[in-house]
Amino acid sequence: MTESINNTNMKNIVNVRNLVKTYQVVDKNFEILQGLNLTVGPKEIVSVEGASGVGKSTLLNILGAMDGFDSGLVEVCGIDLGKLTERQKEMYRGEKISIIFQQHMLLPDFTAIENVMIPLMISGVSKMQSREKAKSILDRVGLGERLDSFPSQLSGGESARTGVARALVAGKELVLADEPTGNLDRENSRMLMDLIRELQEELSFSLILVTHDMELASMAHKRNKILSGVLQPFE
Ligand SMILES: Nc1ncnc2c1ncn2[C@@H]1O[C@H](COP(=O)(O)OP(=O)(O)OP(=O)(O)O)[C@@H](O)[C@H]1O
Ligand SMILES: [Mg+2]
Repeated sequence: MTESINNTNMKNIVNVRNLVKTYQVVDKNFEILQGLNLTVGPKEIVSVEGASGVGKSTLLNILGAMDGFDSGLVEVCGIDLGKLTERQKEMYRGEKISIIFQQHMLLPDFTAIENVMIPLMISGVSKMQSREKAKSILDRVGLGERLDSFPSQLSGGESARTGVARALVAGKELVLADEPTGNLDRENSRMLMDLIRELQEELSFSLILVTHDMELASMAHKRNKILSGVLQPFE
């Protein structure tokens, strides 16, 4: 990293203290997060559950440095996100985190293998090496025969697995997943859940899992829900 955004001596991958986030719509203020605390250790899977509109995606957007916040401390991998410039936020997103989206967000004009190669090539890995790595993780998620398929030629479950492969290929420390099984039927959800769990054990990343799916949430080491703007242990 050329500009230093690193800070060593960290114990937790994520450390959020007293996070406040307000959205203003016309002349009304909505205080979505009202002093939220969250800690995620290395290799830990933590769920964030709660009703629609409580602020789950908002929290992930803040952790991904894709949205700002009003006050509080947000530290990820020892980096204080409140202090980053736009350029440093870009570097942070490129180097530290991966996101698994509900809609998979595959690029329609690129094949499965190209979609998985892109994050590697952006981070400076050569085309040949990117292709090898992408092939190996696509094999791993059961899509070895679908490397040259375009997203429109993949089923929902195959697209979801390609999205997981793309998120995990670069070996980041923190993975943020927003309803990763939201669009899938039960069988495909289970397949994806088992896959994420196996890959998490192999690759040892920390995972924040936003979900409504109780079965998916049950793979978390710690379960939480957002209620009244704060995070509470799930009971
Ligand atoms: N850019 C924005 N401007 C104004 N309000 C917003 C914005 N983004 C989100 N909100 C509001 O913030 C609240 C939290 O939204 P968020 O998307 O975090 O909910 P969520 O918990 O992820 O819900 P869901 O389970 O439906 O995905 C909602 O009331 C939403 O209307
Ligand atoms: Mg959401």
